[in-house]
Amino acid sequence: MKRAIEPTSVERKMREDDFIVSKTNAKGIITYGNPIFIEFSGYSEEELLGSQHNIIRHPDMPRSAFNLVWQTIQSGREFFGYVKNMSKDGSYYWVFTHITPDLDSAGNIIGYTSVRRCPKADAVRKIEPVYRAMLEAERAAGARSAIEAGTNVLVEIMNQSGVSYEELVFSL
Ligand SMILES: Cc1cc2nc3c(=O)[nH]c(=O)nc-3n(C[C@H](O)[C@H](O)[C@H](O)COP(=O)(O)O)c2cc1C
Repeated sequence: MKRAIEPTSVERKMREDDFIVSKTNAKGIITYGNPIFIEFSGYSEEELLGSQHNIIRHPDMPRSAFNLVWQTIQSGREFFGYVKNMSKDGSYYWVFTHITPDLDSAGNIIGYTSVRRCPKADAVRKIEPVYRAMLEAERAAGARSAIEAGTNVLVEIMNQSGVSYEELVFSL
């Protein structure tokens, strides 16, 4: 069994000009990572290729956020959002990600491409408490109702501000 990585408080910061790019197959298995993806992940290219993309998942990220990612991209739409990732050494890095489905000539989804840019510091400060509240709701609800509970927190915030998810993300 793989040993769990202990998250640390060390932050890696993306530079203004960085683009972190990765590609997966339709099941989320990594098929490509650019050199900056490899650098930030802390893994070797051999370790990354063939692994599930959750290899860089940070435990502070709510499950319901990834549920939204997959619902969006599996239905053929593009996803925008802020994600806290974890490197192999336990350090963390925030990204602003754009994930798009890759289609074959018949329109079937054959994989996904993600391009991540340096997030606005102010946006990260605003999204952190949202993810914390979603995670807390998930933990309180227990595994079976976690996704629903976390999603409800986000829906509540959207309802209160009267905006869609995308409007919320781009208003940060
Ligand atoms: C193209 C693509 C890029 C992704 N990038 C990330 C990422 O940077 N960080 C992350 O934690 N999950 C990313 N995911 C989502 C993961 O596949 C996974 O759903 C997530 O880490 C949660 O893990 P879990 O599904 O095992 O709960 C990405 C998925 C796709 C298809």
